[in-house]
Amino acid sequence: MEVVCVGCGPGDPELLTVKAASLLKNADVIYAPTAREGKPSIAFSIVQKYVNATAKIVDLIFPMVKNREQTRLYWRRNAEQIAEAAKMGKNVVYLTVGDPSLYSTWIYIQREITSRYPEIHLKIIPGIPSVFAFAAQAKISLAEGDETLGIIPACYDLEKVKRTANSCDTLVFLKDGRHFGEVIEMLGSAGFSDDSMITMAQDVSAGEEVLKRNSLKEIRQNKVTTEKYFSLMVAKRKNGS
Ligand SMILES: C[S@@+](CC[C@H](N)C(=O)[O-])C[C@H]1O[C@@H](n2cnc3c(N)ncnc32)[C@H](O)[C@@H]1O
Repeated sequence: MEVVCVGCGPGDPELLTVKAASLLKNADVIYAPTAREGKPSIAFSIVQKYVNATAKIVDLIFPMVKNREQTRLYWRRNAEQIAEAAKMGKNVVYLTVGDPSLYSTWIYIQREITSRYPEIHLKIIPGIPSVFAFAAQAKISLAEGDETLGIIPACYDLEKVKRTANSCDTLVFLKDGRHFGEVIEMLGSAGFSDDSMITMAQDVSAGEEVLKRNSLKEIRQNKVTTEKYFSLMVAKRKNGS
């Protein structure tokens, strides 16, 4: 009895590990997370071409709300479905965008299964995180020498964001582009000078990628931003690559 979580990478189906592709080919049931009923799963759209035609595809809803009580009900119900399939001896795969260890729904499934179905073995196949696909596309180094790197979700407490920003040389912001404007306003007070380099991207490696690079001053003057959930932003104290 096993459940395998497959990291699907950032969007380009070619950026998938060979191991992930072979597990997908042999999967009987594939669980694909989505934010709401009827919304196609992004993770599934990335790996679709590797999936066996006989595999059963099941969308699982993970609503994007901050109410923990509400989300916990979904985690529980989704984990139950996955565990049932594993107990029937099926080859069960759970999909996640990028890597399973970075802001992924997988951890909620992992915790539920570990505590309620300890007899089920769990395996994780890493994927290329969006952050690194972004750095490759923008040809920037995230950290070198003694530099520190902070990975920050932009959609939560701005004070916490500021504390992290204060102590890092490079900041990577995820979750989500609609909050980047507020974060940009805060960067100056966290010691980022006007000529700090800011790179933003939408839909990295997913076909319709948009990439912008500006100094902090230009970003503020021209009100450069991104409105998409699938956006990343890197702020570097030094202007350069
Ligand atoms: C729930 S997190 C998932 C992160 C994922 N596990 C990873 O390893 O990249 C979703 C956030 O990841 C970022 N993201 C993931 N894939 C992306 C892509 N292809 N382009 C831009 N941003 C992406 C966005 O910031 C988005 O709001």
